[in-house]
Amino acid sequence: MTDHQIKEFLHIATHVAEEGGKILTKYWGNLSHIQRKSFAWDLVTEADKESEEIILQLLSEKYPSHTILSEESGLTQAKESKYCWVVDPLDGTTNYTHQYPMVSVSVALTFQGEPIVGVVYNPILNEMFQAGRGLGSTLNQQSIHVSKISSLENSLLATGFAYDRAKTVDTNYPEFCHLTHHSQGVRRGGSAAIDLAYVAAGRLDGYWERGLHPWDIAAGIILIEEAGGKVTSYEGNHLVLESGRLMASNGHIHQKIIQELKSAHEKKTS
Ligand code: IPD
Ligand code: CA
Ligand code: CA
Repeated sequence: MTDHQIKEFLHIATHVAEEGGKILTKYWGNLSHIQRKSFAWDLVTEADKESEEIILQLLSEKYPSHTILSEESGLTQAKESKYCWVVDPLDGTTNYTHQYPMVSVSVALTFQGEPIVGVVYNPILNEMFQAGRGLGSTLNQQSIHVSKISSLENSLLATGFAYDRAKTVDTNYPEFCHLTHHSQGVRRGGSAAIDLAYVAAGRLDGYWERGLHPWDIAAGIILIEEAGGKVTSYEGNHLVLESGRLMASNGHIHQKIIQELKSAHEKKTS
């Protein structure tokens, strides 16, 4: 694939994310339909639905032969294509309903299962994160890089707690406590896509979470990789988008976080 093709895909990803962002801005502080999905705290609003509708419409007009995977509609269009657009029309719905401005539109394109283009757009704070394979990562058109922090004690981390947290023993609470004791702090932002974008921008030094979906992480993964960081499974292996667990960092403290996640897990099961 040429840089020219990647740039064109990135241009379209950016355009559709901006259109989704306009919908999020329109309903900000002005919602009338907040519904529950799988769990009481798993919400969907008219902003999620309308943002997804416009993004899917634009992508299917432009690339009718590509697959699309999006949170509210699942898999649509050509199911056999090597290209798949992976879309979260509103990442951080709970934040959105409270007007807590950690919200984003996340759009990625994967080729044979690997992200090649990613955009995370926060229309409320007006921050546009973009990355294309081989092209680097940017925030509002300025190059971004992961941090240089090389010790866990000096790091700022983030994590999250999936919607099934009250129904599973794998809550992530022990890991959260353990890493809180070994770092300068662990934030819970409420938008996985933004957590990843912040690692890419050097605002956070590491992030891990379980219970994630491809649309939460596909764009953030390429943002971090193109900004010089690392994204793997909890064990440090190649990440499969559908695996649900992700460990991301600036690279320097990667192994250390993996070790501490393992220690937290061993403490829990001993
Ligand atoms: C959620 C957010 C949150 C993460 C959850 C996700 P949604 O996505 O990314 O930070 O902890 O696991 O499901 O439901 O707001 O699109
Ligand atoms: Ca999400
Ligand atoms: Ca969502």
